Amino acid sequence: MHKNEKIGYDRREFLKGGTAIAAATAAGVLSPTGIALAQQAKLRVGLMLPYTGTYTPLGVAITNGFKLAVQERGGKLGGREIEYFVVDDESNPAKAPENTNKLIQRDKVDVVIGTVHSGVALGMAKVVRETGVIWINPNAGADEVTGPLCAPNIFRTSFSNWQNTYALGKVVKQRGHKTAVFITHKYAAGEQMMSSFKDAFEKEGGKLVKELYLPFPQVEFQALLTEIASIKPDAVVAFFSGGAAVKFIKDYQAAGLKGKIPLYGPGFLTDGVLEEVGDAAEGMETTLHYADGLDTKKDKAFRLAYVKAYKLQPDVFAVQGYDAGQLLAAGLDAVKGNVGDKAGMIKGMEAAKIDSPRGAFTLSKAHNPVQDIYLRKVVGKQNKVMSVAAKALADPARGCKA
Ligand code: BEZ
Repeated sequence: MHKNEKIGYDRREFLKGGTAIAAATAAGVLSPTGIALAQQAKLRVGLMLPYTGTYTPLGVAITNGFKLAVQERGGKLGGREIEYFVVDDESNPAKAPENTNKLIQRDKVDVVIGTVHSGVALGMAKVVRETGVIWINPNAGADEVTGPLCAPNIFRTSFSNWQNTYALGKVVKQRGHKTAVFITHKYAAGEQMMSSFKDAFEKEGGKLVKELYLPFPQVEFQALLTEIASIKPDAVVAFFSGGAAVKFIKDYQAAGLKGKIPLYGPGFLTDGVLEEVGDAAEGMETTLHYADGLDTKKDKAFRLAYVKAYKLQPDVFAVQGYDAGQLLAAGLDAVKGNVGDKAGMIKGMEAAKIDSPRGAFTLSKAHNPVQDIYLRKVVGKQNKVMSVAAKALADPARGCKA
C-alpha cells in the first residue's frame, strides 16, 4: 500500500527489520532448516494495555477478546503457540515510548497489540515506525494513526476517532436539536471526537454552542454540569469511557439533567457500564460500530463463547481485541507462521475480510476498518441496535500517503 520513501523510511529495510527471525534471516544466520525451527518457536506477542486507572475494564476486555480468538484456534496462531509479554501502560502518554521499547527491545516481541488511550498510541506510533515491528491497535482512535502516521506495519481493528461521532452529528440534528454542548476529557480522543461531531452537526444546520473539557482522568464533573444547566442547550454529547463514563452518567442524573436535556454520545459512553449505572442511562442514544442484539450467527457464537470463558458479557472492547486476534491469525496463516516474511504477513492482513461479531469488515488502504456505524438505544442492560446510522463508513485518512 504505502510508498515508504514518503513516510520516512525505506520499504525494503523496513521489511527486513523487527523480529529476531527476520534479522537472523537477513544476516544469513538462519538456514532453511533454521527458519523451519524458528517457525516452531513460540510467537512472542506483546500486550500493551491499561491494567490500572479509569480504562482498566477496557484493557481487560481487549485482552480477554484477543485470547479468545487464540483459544478458538487451539491456542496457536499460524501454527505457533503464543508467549505473552504484558505491559501496563497506565494510560500514560509520557511512558509510552519507554513501554513500547520494553516490549520490542527487551522482550523481542514479534508483534505488539495495544492500546486504549489515543495519547499513548501516538507515543507508540513513533517507536513502531522506527523499528518496523507489526502493531495491531485494538482500540485507540487517534486519527493520526491511520492518517499522517500510517505505515505498512500499522493496523487498527477498532475505529478512528472521526468515525462514530461523525455519524452521531447527523442523528442528533435529525432528532430536532438545534444546539448542543460537547463535554469530554482534554486529549486527542475527546478533541477529535468533538471535532467530527461538530463538522457533521453543523453541516446539517445545528450549532455546537460550547466545548467543555476537563483534564484526563479527572472526574469532578459538578462545575461543568452546572454550566450546562445554565447554557440550556437542546442536547448534550459526551465522550467518556470506563470508570469515568460510569461516574458521568450517574452525576448527570444526580444533577437533575436527565429527562431535561437529552444526553448522547459515541457508544464508548454506555458500552460495558450498564450493570453499574442502574437506570441512569435508560433511553440514551449512542452511535458505535457494535451493538447488542445484532442477531447474527457470528455474534451469537462469539457472545456465547465469551460468557462461557469469562462469565462476563462482552462489549465493543472485547470485540476489538477478538478481531485483533483474528487479523493477526490472517497475517500468520498467509506466511505459515513465518513472521520473518513481513511483506507476506502484511499482504495477508491487508487482504483479510474479518468475520467480526460487529459484522464482516475489511481494512481501508490506511489499515482502518471500513464498517457500519449503528444507532443504539439503552434499554435495560442493553445497548440495543435500532438502525444503521452510517453504512460502510471509511475514515477519510487525511494525511496518509498511501
Ligand atoms: C481513545 O483514547 O482513543 C479512546 C479511549 C477509550 C474509548 C475510546 C477511545
